[in-house]
Amino acid sequence: MIIGTALSNSATKALLLGSGELGKELTIALQRYGVEVIAVDRYANAPAHHVAHRSHVIDMTDGEAVKKLIALEQPDFIIPEIEAIATATLAEIEAEGLCTVVPNARAIQLTMNREGIRTLVAETLSLPTSRYAFAESFDELKTAVESGIGYPCFIKPTMSSSGKGQSMVKSPEQLQAAWDTAKASGRVNTGKVIAEAKIDFDFEITLLTVRALNADAEIQTYFCEAIGHVQEQGDYRESWQPQTMTPAALALSQDIAAKVTTEIGGLGLFGVELFIKGDEVWFSEVSPRPHDTGMVTMVTQAQNEFELHARAILGLPVATHLEKVGASAVILGGINAKAVVYEGLAQALSVPDSEVRLFGKPEAFTNRRMGVALASASTVDKARAKAVKAASLIVVKSNE
Ligand SMILES: Nc1ncnc2c1ncn2[C@@H]1O[C@H](COP(=O)(O)OP(=O)(O)OP(=O)(O)O)[C@@H](O)[C@H]1O
Ligand SMILES: [Mg+2]
Repeated sequence: MIIGTALSNSATKALLLGSGELGKELTIALQRYGVEVIAVDRYANAPAHHVAHRSHVIDMTDGEAVKKLIALEQPDFIIPEIEAIATATLAEIEAEGLCTVVPNARAIQLTMNREGIRTLVAETLSLPTSRYAFAESFDELKTAVESGIGYPCFIKPTMSSSGKGQSMVKSPEQLQAAWDTAKASGRVNTGKVIAEAKIDFDFEITLLTVRALNADAEIQTYFCEAIGHVQEQGDYRESWQPQTMTPAALALSQDIAAKVTTEIGGLGLFGVELFIKGDEVWFSEVSPRPHDTGMVTMVTQAQNEFELHARAILGLPVATHLEKVGASAVILGGINAKAVVYEGLAQALSVPDSEVRLFGKPEAFTNRRMGVALASASTVDKARAKAVKAASLIVVKSNE
């Protein structure tokens, strides 16, 4: 891999589609190797815009707008950071062979729609998932749930993330409201929802899986230690690493993650979400990119998930080992306000072995993630307590 000089005609350029907190850290990781980074989002002053060489604001679901920008910037790598993008355009650009879509356009297409990835994993690869069915009308949904999926179950739009439009249904009378919610809040109205039987898991993990070149320049699959996490309203609140699990469950998790990521292909880091009960494992979903729960690796690994993604993309060697036990706790907005101010950073950082990232989002919402607190300790319980404490000491206030 030859790297050019950023901001010159030899530059190696990466264009990020999506510029949130994960993109911000990825931008920094890429820039450390001299890559020129162009950060794109649908709104101005998104987190990665603060640190990229250049930034653009476009509607990333508009194929023409994406095409025009790529023609202007001529990146070597297009790195999708979010799911809501014009994936057909990425496929066209990939076919032209002028740049690499990370990890590849098919991966982006498959994972933006729950139907694509679920069908591939459950039917083509025959890997364990929750029982599921797709429905295009309320009647179809009712029949599917009552004839096989059962209660309790989850109803989700086929295209959504961060728990949007998703509900858990415990009994028949809640089904109509769940259908209405899923129909109203899908990112793109595909007209379809997925019903998934609720898995009664002991805990859920993200298994960060990296496809990178080894010393023989062959693609090899590497695993980070399992990350445990807590979700509320479909969005993560706390994560920690490592998550203790049985050797059998770990082996099965790695086997599932290897099969799914090998099928997807390309180079990069993936977040494989799995549900665990004893020795049993179910695949839930996969992100072909760094994962929000993986922010904990900023304090646990020598090479965090952003560094690993950057290295894998650039064809560089990776090392996924854990250095410290650690945890992360999110800092939510708590209010709806623009240009908020943050109090308590000094207090938060007085928690031993803690770190804080404030993302710099221009506007806070009650449930919007504005920052994250990280901490390491001798045990997961201690690390979690420290991270939660540090997060709680940051107070988000209106600027008025
Ligand atoms: N079938 C299921 N059984 C049990 N729990 C589930 C199931 N589906 C979803 N959940 C719970 O809801 C959370 C969010 O679900 P999912 O990952 O499908 O949503 P998402 O919108 O893609 O969220 P994100 O983008 O944050 O990953 C899961 O992490 C899990 O805690
Ligand atoms: Mg998820």
